[in-house]
Amino acid sequence: MIIAIDGFSSTGKSTLARQLAAHLNFLYIDSGAMYRAISLYVIQNDMLIDFMIDKASLIKSLPDIKIDIRHERDKENQVMMNGENVTSQLRDMKVSNMVSEVAAIPEVREKLVSIQRELSRSTDIVMDGRDIGTVVFPHADLKLFVKADARIRAERRWMEMREKGDDVDFDDILSNIKQRDIKDTTRKIAPLKKADDAIELDNTSLDKKQQLDLAIQYVNDLKH
Ligand code: DC
Repeated sequence: MIIAIDGFSSTGKSTLARQLAAHLNFLYIDSGAMYRAISLYVIQNDMLIDFMIDKASLIKSLPDIKIDIRHERDKENQVMMNGENVTSQLRDMKVSNMVSEVAAIPEVREKLVSIQRELSRSTDIVMDGRDIGTVVFPHADLKLFVKADARIRAERRWMEMREKGDDVDFDDILSNIKQRDIKDTTRKIAPLKKADDAIELDNTSLDKKQQLDLAIQYVNDLKH
């Protein structure tokens, strides 16, 4: 069984996907973390020219970038890039500010979509992202499309980062979220959009437990 969870940035898709996978005993994959890992590679390897990504160099290097996802029940995915665990660096603002641009490169998407499909071959899976129900798994058994008010999303992300000890500015986060919404929905390749057969889940006024209960109910509805 494949459950695809797409939606806007910082809507808590990953938390929902992780908890739902743990509840169902499915594999959970955070596809955004893969795009973030490639963005980190760009930063680590100085592939920026005048603040723009040196796309030609990145595309040439793609075969050398090995991404592995380590999965533990109800835990954040651990992302290994060329043997190094890079998970703790993937939410840095530097990465967040660049990731939409990296995700718009067709060759990057091609590489990551193929890894994502491969991961589903031998097991039931819950995967979250932007194009999971539209491109990666158009025949997914259940598709959810998650949205929430932008200010609420920024508040949640701000609190999460403060708890981690990151001294970040609320307005920077809000503007990053708004910019990513625009970039994700307007890019030419695999833009964020609700699949026709996806169920919309607006969690602006739902807590994590309520949103999980709703998702479990949708899974149960499949069985009837
Ligand atoms: O879910 P996230 O915020 O970690 O995703 C990071 C970025 O990666 C986001 O700006 C859009 C992109 N992304 C994508 O284009 N396709 C996916 N399947 C997942 C993420």
